Amino acid sequence: MTQPTTTLALALREGGFAKAPTPQVPHAMAPFLDLREVALPPLAAGQVLIEVILSPVNPSDLFFVQGGYGQPRVQGQAAGFEGVGRVIASNGADALLGRRVSFLGTGTGAWAKHAVSDAALCIPLDDAVRDVDGAALIVNPLTAVALVERARQGGNAFVLNAAGSQLGRLMLGLARDEGLSPIAVIRRPDEAEALRALGAAEVLVTSDSGFATQAAQAIRALKPRVLLDAVGDQATADLFFAMPSGAAWVSYGKMSDEAPSLTQMGQFIFMAKTIEGFWLSRWLPAAPADRQAAVIRQVQTRFASGQWATRVAAELSLDQAIDGILPAYATSSGKVMIRP
Ligand SMILES: NC(=O)c1ccc[n+]([C@@H]2O[C@H](COP(=O)([O-])OP(=O)(O)OC[C@H]3O[C@@H](n4cnc5c(N)ncnc54)[C@H](OP(=O)(O)O)[C@@H]3O)[C@@H](O)[C@H]2O)c1
Repeated sequence: MTQPTTTLALALREGGFAKAPTPQVPHAMAPFLDLREVALPPLAAGQVLIEVILSPVNPSDLFFVQGGYGQPRVQGQAAGFEGVGRVIASNGADALLGRRVSFLGTGTGAWAKHAVSDAALCIPLDDAVRDVDGAALIVNPLTAVALVERARQGGNAFVLNAAGSQLGRLMLGLARDEGLSPIAVIRRPDEAEALRALGAAEVLVTSDSGFATQAAQAIRALKPRVLLDAVGDQATADLFFAMPSGAAWVSYGKMSDEAPSLTQMGQFIFMAKTIEGFWLSRWLPAAPADRQAAVIRQVQTRFASGQWATRVAAELSLDQAIDGILPAYATSSGKVMIRP
């Protein structure tokens, strides 16, 4: 097969970072993305060329296209952090040729017919792993393992918000299987039953008028000392200040555009409370190689066995994506997938 030198991609219109803080969800995708043919760079040593099958739209992608994520955009390059596809060419990683892999778009982005990735960051997939699971097998699943491990350091119980998210659901299932008691915080009551079935020991609904009282009761009963936070709003800050001495607020996402106030600074001094951040892009390279391999095996086994599954809200072709991503994302009923 002749190796393509260009590919059809959702290309970034701008490079670098945004000049001002960006909202989580852009008002439209058209100011940020352009559907066009882009050049594929020659493969550097250790890189592979992948024919993309599916790629998810993660919250991080929405921040990234706007220039509000932790790494700069490259103008004219495809967006999309991860996906599943088949390796069609390699420079020094021939063992992957023909393999279906989960990959990170480390050379070029995944919202394209073809993507360049580092072979070291490709995960060859078992046949039992469905494409939809393979497409979203890295960013959220590896984070789920890392964050549940962090939660366990605080004891048996922990709090997680945005618990109905794809990542939240992965963490609930994993925590249940590890004998932990997660307290799930959500904003829509209709998700409560499903989250209990997945493994939540308690479900608290922020839109409920009794939220603060119910939260206080759950905290008294279960004594959680880790708050896994993907929201970063005032309700989260208030919840943290209701937690016991030694509690850690682990910020790993910013779904809310609200800026919370820290109303009880004395708790950092007198109750040894802490705030910390988590980013997979820092955690993964810092993990020892045998730990990385074990986590990758674990996540693949959980998908292959059906212990985990990726919910899909919609599948869009490249030419449907610019207009279709945001309406499908707003349904919050699973991942929006791009099928190039
Ligand atoms: N730091 C890292 O390394 C890392 C790695 C992976 C993921 N993440 C983060 O993890 C989070 C979840 O990712 P995902 O892919 O699982 O997301 P997802 O499936 O798209 O779900 C998003 C969730 O956020 C909730 N949400 C949105 N806006 C909210 C608001 N203003 N207040 C409260 N809840 C709100 C939604 O609730 P509704 O259903 O009620 O709309 C939904 O449950 C994201 O913040 C993502 O950036 C971080």
